[in-house]
Amino acid sequence: MPKLAELKKDIQKELQTKLIGQEIHTFPELPSTNTWALEQGKANAVDGCVVICDHQSAGKGRLGREWYSPNGGNLYMSILLYPDLAANEIYRLTLLAGAACCEALKNITGKKIHLKWPNDLHYEGRKLGGILCEAGLQQGQAPTAVIGIGINLDLDPETMPPELQGLATSLKEITGQEWQRSRIAAAILNHLENWYLRPKEEAWREVIEYCDEQNILTNRKVTVKSAGETVTGTATGLNPAGHLILTLESGEQRTFSEGDASLAD
Ligand code: BTN
Repeated sequence: MPKLAELKKDIQKELQTKLIGQEIHTFPELPSTNTWALEQGKANAVDGCVVICDHQSAGKGRLGREWYSPNGGNLYMSILLYPDLAANEIYRLTLLAGAACCEALKNITGKKIHLKWPNDLHYEGRKLGGILCEAGLQQGQAPTAVIGIGINLDLDPETMPPELQGLATSLKEITGQEWQRSRIAAAILNHLENWYLRPKEEAWREVIEYCDEQNILTNRKVTVKSAGETVTGTATGLNPAGHLILTLESGEQRTFSEGDASLAD
């Protein structure tokens, strides 16, 4: 794994951004890059600053889960933003980042990488990465947002936790080659900025359209666990708010703004 000082330089060489990644912080270890970036937001750190570490001791996944973050060259990266979004719109960045990651990884690898609503990156049914977007809300201030991105570049099946066996995959496994963290990080940041700096409503419509096309749940029988209930139906797309629409056997339509979705067929 290249040294952290080189990582920063290598990313900057490939960046074509005006905002995101103008400042990049790297650490051998952090509890979580998201937690670090949220703290920076409280101290008014620079918009678009990026943090990457080699290893997270308390990597966070969605729904309070742990994100497995071994020291093996995977990408653990967070971006701090001060978006022009209300607190109840910050969730949009999860889908926006998902679209950016999916596009970037497809471009680079040529592989059919997909999204699983709302925040997973998948390849042939296995999880390649995930996105955790968190908001920092302080009284009297516009919300800050942190987009956390974890991409498995290389997972060692020998040391992977048993609960991930058969469910997680890595770029190395799906392409048969090693990938430089800097190249993956820069590509994601370039794509992210491309979506992020576009007029917000236009970008949002296209993000939803893209996520809808790439969502592995579309037209499949899906179970969603959300707000204490479990509902099964056919996923028939995303509504204009980016919520998942399930059509139940009765014909009733339900929408979910968040939840844990899995294929049921
Ligand atoms: C998920 O799929 O549940 C979301 C995973 C997000 C993991 C990334 S790794 C970098 C950033 N820091 C964290 O603690 N989590 C996110």
